[in-house]
Amino acid sequence: MASVRIANVWKYYGKTVAVKDLNIDCPDGQFLSVLGPSGCGKSSTLRMLAGLEHISAGDIYFGERRVNDLPPKARDIAMVFENYALYPHKTVFENIANPLRLRGTDGATIERKVRAAAKMLEIEHLLDRKPVELSGGQKQRTAIGRAIVREPQLFLFDEPIAHLDAKLRAHMRGELKLMQRRLGTTMIYVTHDQLEAMSMADRIAVMHEGVLQQFGTPQEIYNQPVNEWVAGFVGEPPMNFLDVEVVDEDGRLCLVHPGFRVAVTAAQQALLRQRLSGREARMGIRPDEVRIATATFPGALEARVRVSEPLGGDMLVDAELAGSRLLVKTRPDFTGGMGAPCWVAFDVERWHLFEKPSGVAYF
Ligand SMILES: Nc1ncnc2c1ncn2[C@@H]1O[C@H](COP(=O)(O)OP(=O)(O)OP(=O)(O)O)[C@@H](O)[C@H]1O
Ligand SMILES: [Mg+2]
Repeated sequence: MASVRIANVWKYYGKTVAVKDLNIDCPDGQFLSVLGPSGCGKSSTLRMLAGLEHISAGDIYFGERRVNDLPPKARDIAMVFENYALYPHKTVFENIANPLRLRGTDGATIERKVRAAAKMLEIEHLLDRKPVELSGGQKQRTAIGRAIVREPQLFLFDEPIAHLDAKLRAHMRGELKLMQRRLGTTMIYVTHDQLEAMSMADRIAVMHEGVLQQFGTPQEIYNQPVNEWVAGFVGEPPMNFLDVEVVDEDGRLCLVHPGFRVAVTAAQQALLRQRLSGREARMGIRPDEVRIATATFPGALEARVRVSEPLGGDMLVDAELAGSRLLVKTRPDFTGGMGAPCWVAFDVERWHLFEKPSGVAYF
């Protein structure tokens, strides 16, 4: 097992800067997810950890050991990449068994380990097939099996379940998390799917355009996003953002919008007094932190239903509040139809405020 430290790492491809001055510390045995949209530098980071890509600047350590110049084979890692690279002429069984055969493991142990991995991955019935006879998701699970049986000091997974259907993906999220916790092997897991990162990881590194935006637990990333970009990327349906002015009313700071004028809490006011840099700001509130009703209630703001979408257990209401769009997640029995008036209120303990134009969070 090993801790991983990425220290001031840069990656250039010619003039393209794929990773900018990245710093991440992953303690031994943790499940770390690298999360971000396409092209943000996730795979480049993982490939440098694996030793498949030259590090343009900076250092990578496994435990105390600097591994910059260590070839992939000497790093004791197991990888699963987007292109799962199976041996085409070998069966699923032999593909999974391969690292054990190379190591000279005895036949009975190989049989036991391969079958246990295949069972967890629900591919026991495919062990005699060749890769050409598999779907993309089955190939991915075979590649995961091959990584698991190696029992390395570090797992490096790059979107390993992206090709699975939604139900199987949900199943595999649970299984991979369980496997990692059981083995206690450090895991670095790349994904663009925030739900995957949120549900599996101990810590998440959120990246955007090669830059680490935030590093924290799933709860920290969700509840205290450091900037508007992270706030908008994490959470589904996404956070609402409204342009507001911060106005001092007899010593009390209020957020003012054409549709409302609401005072911030005392704690929020204390934070704003220290840092406020201008009148204009962006208010952020998650769809499930807005109350909505078809009749008025104390403190309610009048809005209008644009359209509502039943989502089974919830109702997603797309509303308009004085020219701004507001998504609200509410109970499935909400009855407001298209164009109907509705009343909303914010949970002010839970709203966020971001500086303009930097997007940095005030709270
Ligand atoms: N071999 C390469 N040569 C040149 N540019 C590259 C190379 N590999 C990646 N890039 C560029 O570096 C940036 C980061 O790429 P990377 O593959 O790390 O992104 P990613 O976060 O893994 O994206 P995705 O989610 O699409 O897999 C992108 O702008 C990409 O075009
Ligand atoms: Mg990638």
